[in-house]
Amino acid sequence: MEKTFNLSNGAQIPCVGLGCGAIKEDEIEDTLRTALKSGYRLFDCALLYGNEAWIGTAFEKIFSEGEYSREDVFITTKLPMIGNHPDRVEYFLKKSLENLKTSFVDLYLIHFPVGFQYENEDNYFPKKDGIIQLDFSHTDLVSLWKAMEQQVIAGRTKAIGISNFNVKQISQILKCRIPPANLQIEVHAYFQQKELRDFCKNNGIVVEAYAPLGSPGRREAFKPNGVPQVLADPIVTAIAQRYSKSPAQILLRFLVDEKVVVLPKSVSPVRLHENIELFDFEMTAEDHAQLNSLDRGEKGRSFDYLKIFQGLEKHPENPMPIMEFVEE
Ligand SMILES: NC(=O)c1ccc[n+]([C@@H]2O[C@H](COP(=O)([O-])OP(=O)(O)OC[C@H]3O[C@@H](n4cnc5c(N)ncnc54)[C@H](OP(=O)(O)O)[C@@H]3O)[C@@H](O)[C@H]2O)c1
Repeated sequence: MEKTFNLSNGAQIPCVGLGCGAIKEDEIEDTLRTALKSGYRLFDCALLYGNEAWIGTAFEKIFSEGEYSREDVFITTKLPMIGNHPDRVEYFLKKSLENLKTSFVDLYLIHFPVGFQYENEDNYFPKKDGIIQLDFSHTDLVSLWKAMEQQVIAGRTKAIGISNFNVKQISQILKCRIPPANLQIEVHAYFQQKELRDFCKNNGIVVEAYAPLGSPGRREAFKPNGVPQVLADPIVTAIAQRYSKSPAQILLRFLVDEKVVVLPKSVSPVRLHENIELFDFEMTAEDHAQLNSLDRGEKGRSFDYLKIFQGLEKHPENPMPIMEFVEE
């Protein structure tokens, strides 16, 4: 079983990475140490997770001890939405590099195709009357991508990619000089995004799954009872029981078998270990067919950005399909 996938820039990306979103200051160092010991080499960060500087400090300390070095790890980080303007890309990448205490990242992503209005460099979620202020003044993804390409040329990132883009948006930037190395999107058994993934496969773009366990702890004001619990699905738990594995291991291995990089977040030593111990069993074609059948399409989504970012449907680069359905 291969444990890395090939990126179009010639580099290898590990097929399991640690999602670093929501890891708190007092959890960072222990989590990174446990993750490295368990075999993680891919770390998914973002400026707007607010913890990059703590991650940089912890890595600096760990690397200074000699067992691991910067070259052992693959670090991804992302341009915040307030940076979605060609004139701000270099500034925000330099800020991330300073936080992470490194001269380059392995992969730099545009976090979201819709920009937010720029108030100041630290206000990643500018709001008015509690509503995020979307930027309608600059919506040109091609010029934004060209500024991303400049970062590769300058050596600040080895590869560039995108997150939360749709087929139309990816098609636009595919015409540029450097194709996107990857697309990071929500993918799990309840929300499999097969069409988008097929499009990526046909264009040499590696797909990374965020929320690969369905982001089970997630609650929003509009979803006070939380998101669909794919970890508790009877089909997943039955397969898990058959292989003496956990439901998380079944969900993650299913995606890796489909050539999707998985980025589960955990701060629990037991779960960190569990989420990367995926390669000592093989599921049958029938197990795969059952897991495939769990796809609920749009109803399976945990991250509903149309509700999270009010007014998104009016933005020309809204990546989400607009459809009406009744919540189950
Ligand atoms: N590009 C984007 O727009 C975007 C959006 C969202 C997320 N992301 C990235 O994707 C990563 C993961 O997403 P996510 O955190 O929303 O979802 P997730 O990884 O599907 O779920 C994380 C949650 O599951 C729990 N968990 C972890 N392993 C488990 C296991 N083996 N059994 C049961 N529960 C387990 C974690 O709790 P414990 O920590 O207590 O274990 C945490 O509450 C983020 O950290 C971030 O790096 C990117």
